[in-house]
Amino acid sequence: MMKALVVANRSVTLQNDLPVPTLKSNEVLVKIHYASVNSFDLETIEGKNDMLGKLMGAKKHPVQTGLEFAGVVETDGKRFKKGDRVYGYPHLTKGMKAHQEYLAINEDFLALMPPALGFAESAALPLGALTTLVGLESVGKIGPGAKVLIVGAAGGLGVYAVQIARIFKAEITAVAGPGQEDFLTELGAHRVVNYKEHSLQDLADRYDIILDLTTRVKFGEIKKLLSPKGVFVPANPFNQLSGLLGNAFRKQKTGWLMVDRGDHDQLTRIAQWVDEGKLKPIIDQIYPFAEYAEAFSKVTAPGKRGRMVLQIADEETT
Ligand SMILES: NC(=O)c1ccc[n+]([C@@H]2O[C@H](COP(=O)([O-])OP(=O)(O)OC[C@H]3O[C@@H](n4cnc5c(N)ncnc54)[C@H](OP(=O)(O)O)[C@@H]3O)[C@@H](O)[C@H]2O)c1
Repeated sequence: MMKALVVANRSVTLQNDLPVPTLKSNEVLVKIHYASVNSFDLETIEGKNDMLGKLMGAKKHPVQTGLEFAGVVETDGKRFKKGDRVYGYPHLTKGMKAHQEYLAINEDFLALMPPALGFAESAALPLGALTTLVGLESVGKIGPGAKVLIVGAAGGLGVYAVQIARIFKAEITAVAGPGQEDFLTELGAHRVVNYKEHSLQDLADRYDIILDLTTRVKFGEIKKLLSPKGVFVPANPFNQLSGLLGNAFRKQKTGWLMVDRGDHDQLTRIAQWVDEGKLKPIIDQIYPFAEYAEAFSKVTAPGKRGRMVLQIADEETT
């Protein structure tokens, strides 16, 4: 039996009597050491993602939270072997998530952890780094000198968006709350705008990519900030249907960003950037598994930097 966070009746509880998962083909069993907590988890507990799950034909699993983690492979697979230190992102809508001691997961959603990092730091990396890499590179078509506006730059995704935009040698404007200027400049932002003092409408520049991680911005509001062929990349494309439909009629586009699982090759690329000193994980705070409620409550508290991380394994491992 193992410990796990179980979602039922719009709340989450820590239980210690869940069976250790059995494996399907292509899966390995991973002992989870650390896993992060993020805003999608909160929405899942509140039932806001039920419709998405239904649309994807997903069966509800008791463990529905925990989208990124780091741990140790317990069974030999095709790609990984027992003892490998891995990090990854389980499927967003289908199957079990990572807030449990053991996870059965498709090997394709995993990669070897960056060798220089511990489990806690590795657990704070995959979801944010992978999503923003896809948002900037595949959707936004980032390249050297691209002017990029990142809205929500100090949060769980934003801290990676800034660093990855820097890797691509973009010119970066970061929008965040008060007190984040030095932090975001150190990560690579060329200009930091405090959203409490300035609205997006105050900005005079034009941007090739506007990445909105707050999920509040609409295409119509920022259209005038986009360069003639600029791309607006919202973190939640589902509430941008009019912007997406309008793509057929204009050169400025709304991009479709949906990263719903780990990707072995991209996570390996991300680990290499960490190895080369180009990218680092940002953890706001680490909590023991039993203090999950406090970690969840901190996710929406203003002023955080990067991720809240839960220590899932009993022993503190590095
Ligand atoms: N499409 C995909 O594939 C995909 C994948 C993963 C995640 N997501 C989504 O991406 C979104 C962001 O996730 P996250 O983990 O980065 O969330 P997060 O950690 O809560 O970060 C959001 C950030 O937005 C900032 N913010 C709030 N109001 C703002 C404003 N008016 N202007 C500028 N910044 C503002 C917050 O700053 P304060 O601290 O000042 O409040 C916070 O730092 C979530 O909705 C998540 O579900 C999408």
